[in-house]
Amino acid sequence: MKNTLIILAHPDIYQSIGNKFITEELDKLENVQVRNLNHLYPDYKINVKAEQEELKKADIIIFQYPLFWYNVPAIMKEWIDNVFTYGFAFGKGNYQLENKKVIASFTTGTSINDYPKDVIDKISFPIRGLADYCKMEYITQVVSHEINAYSDEAKKKSEYNAELHVQQLIEIINSH
Ligand SMILES: Cc1cc2nc3c(=O)[nH]c(=O)nc-3n(C[C@H](O)[C@H](O)[C@H](O)COP(=O)(O)O)c2cc1C
Repeated sequence: MKNTLIILAHPDIYQSIGNKFITEELDKLENVQVRNLNHLYPDYKINVKAEQEELKKADIIIFQYPLFWYNVPAIMKEWIDNVFTYGFAFGKGNYQLENKKVIASFTTGTSINDYPKDVIDKISFPIRGLADYCKMEYITQVVSHEINAYSDEAKKKSEYNAELHVQQLIEIINSH
């Protein structure tokens, strides 16, 4: 399996169903590292050098998060803004992440009906745009809907959807 780096943002992973299951399952695999940004940086002071070194070692980078107002959680935005610097990720002829593969992997609370293709394309665009700008290869997004614990039945369905999400990610990782 290719070296896979999972950048996880979730402000309360202990209450999570989807992102917790997905990252715990992937963490069991060889050559996969999960970095929980909220645990690493509770004060939001990102260690830029350390993050850049981890990125350099990865072949596949997965942005893993619950969708918050059609966007990534705040700490992931902070991480992106600090880590993808001029002279490292782009510019001065330095594209140190060139050709690395990128996947956006997120969960939504509401139904697939709220997420037609044009909406998913818009939501994914900031990560796709980042990848393109840094000469990385955006592979795809993997999205699971209705991840919530509104009832016991909803919780069961969420767990099932999270399992499918993991399987999709593993297939994509293995085929690259
Ligand atoms: C601040 C906030 C904003 C949210 N915004 C959205 C949203 O825009 N669309 C949506 O479908 N769900 C939204 N949700 C629901 C989360 O996406 C959902 O709880 C999460 O994907 C479930 O994953 P988890 O089990 O890992 O916590 C939001 C939740 C919070 C706390």
